[in-house]
Amino acid sequence: MTPGRGAAARIEIAADAEELARRAAGEVVAALSAALDRRPSASWVLAGGATPRRLYRRLAARPQALDWSRVELYWGDERCLPPDDERSNFRLARQTLLAALPFAGPRVHRIRGEQSPPVAAEEYQREIAAALARGPFDLVLLGLGADGHTASLFPGWVALPGALAAAVEAPVEPRRRVTLTAAALRRCRRLLFLVAGRDKAVAVARALDPARSGEVSAALRPSAGDTVWLLDRAAAAEL
Ligand code: 6PG
Repeated sequence: MTPGRGAAARIEIAADAEELARRAAGEVVAALSAALDRRPSASWVLAGGATPRRLYRRLAARPQALDWSRVELYWGDERCLPPDDERSNFRLARQTLLAALPFAGPRVHRIRGEQSPPVAAEEYQREIAAALARGPFDLVLLGLGADGHTASLFPGWVALPGALAAAVEAPVEPRRRVTLTAAALRRCRRLLFLVAGRDKAVAVARALDPARSGEVSAALRPSAGDTVWLLDRAAAAEL
């Protein structure tokens, strides 16, 4: 995949986990508010893993910051598990964010991990195609693995022409997953990477090295948007 022509990334380094969550919440509210100032609704693709937990809790503590009834939520990937499984990315968001939002809250488009991977991927392909037919995502939030993976696009991933969602076999448990493809993830107005921890520092340095185009994140530069990297000091240690 050749990287997109998006603008250079903005990199911010937070002193600790709390400041990282505070800055991330500011980025989310700013991106979605800007969308709601211009359009009837805003679309946000959530990340999985553990890093976003503090961010989701911080947003839940200030529900008045956004008109959540006009926000459409999607996921960048999901483990193929029931939604109440403790490893489910949807469950993380439901427990930390969704449960605290007003009843007339966001429209939730979850990946149905309880389905077989091909069925869930096919269903989400249609869901994402419909979303992108209305325009790019306003915000895509992604984490980064120590091996450089993001969403469930792991090193050695292959571009799947025309696919927006795909069933994949991850090299780590839980192995069966559905992920948005690079082609879907880069269709956004803002791409926000949220990364914490010393174990991610090498992957961050590789992702931000302009000489390396093979990194998954290098393929995700938004074609018509910008990229922000929010890091804690430990994850920025190799920059
Ligand atoms: C997942 C995520 C994955 C995650 C990274 C970082 O389903 O696991 O989509 O891409 O963002 O692995 O995970 P941590 O935030 O737990 O370090």
